Amino acid sequence: MIHNEVIDTMLKRRSVRKYTDQKPDDEVIETIVRAGQQAPFAGQLCSIILTQKKKLPWRAPLMFTICVDMHRFELIMAKRGWKTKTSDLSIILFGLQDATLMAENMVIAAESLGLGSCFIGAAAYTADRFQKTYKLPKRVYPFVHLVMGYPAEEFPPRPRYPLEFTLFEEQYPELTDELIDKAMQVMDEGYLAQGYYRNLKGKIHLEGDRKETFTYDTYSWTEHISRKWGQWNADPKELLEPLAKCGFVINRKRRRSS
Ligand SMILES: Cc1cc2nc3c(=O)[nH]c(=O)nc-3n(C[C@H](O)[C@H](O)[C@H](O)COP(=O)(O)O)c2cc1C
Repeated sequence: MIHNEVIDTMLKRRSVRKYTDQKPDDEVIETIVRAGQQAPFAGQLCSIILTQKKKLPWRAPLMFTICVDMHRFELIMAKRGWKTKTSDLSIILFGLQDATLMAENMVIAAESLGLGSCFIGAAAYTADRFQKTYKLPKRVYPFVHLVMGYPAEEFPPRPRYPLEFTLFEEQYPELTDELIDKAMQVMDEGYLAQGYYRNLKGKIHLEGDRKETFTYDTYSWTEHISRKWGQWNADPKELLEPLAKCGFVINRKRRRSS
């Protein structure tokens, strides 16, 4: 594998959940956001609210709330005499891609400057709450938080699937038991070696009549994510409603405007 400064920065990045009290200065923050802006975009459908004043998760000094923002461009369209005809499903699809690429550029820029970060994904389900807090206009959807600061913990990067479980040449392969088992082993052993879920006290409680058979000696990534996708958020309303409150109606065709 090739190594250089950029690749090594990306390979050592990991989510940080413990921060020092040191506040990043304005130049650091502006550099990170400016590097974020330079990500590829479909329509620059992203804006960011920076919070530094409140008590933030893991006592981080900074939190960026990453938003899909169609409000800003609709102001520009109005000046050009246009109204949006594209469905909100398309706008959200491209907006999420724009915003995610920008956020990840920020993560890597921060890492290169000695800062750590961690996303918090629950915002998408409570977007309307942040709408009030941040005085967001309609057509702005705050969907994820990114906390950031100087790390107060040291640990190695977390594992990823083996490359052969991710990169498929020309066509999707038959995923054999051997490939699946190897991928599960790499992930589970990697997280167990760090005591990841034990440290986070992150075991997901079992719903229904499934009996708990895991301890923190055996509970790891594949069981955790299976419990997550196997139990949570079955009703699309949980996302469609906050989206609608933010002015994005996903399951309706847009009326023709002149
Ligand atoms: C969209 C998204 C949402 C996330 N939400 C949370 C969260 O709510 N709480 C948390 O502790 N970590 C959260 N994470 C961090 C992941 O748990 C972490 O990226 C993953 O375990 C891989 O670990 P690494 O980033 O250290 O490689 C989130 C990451 C992403 C990309």
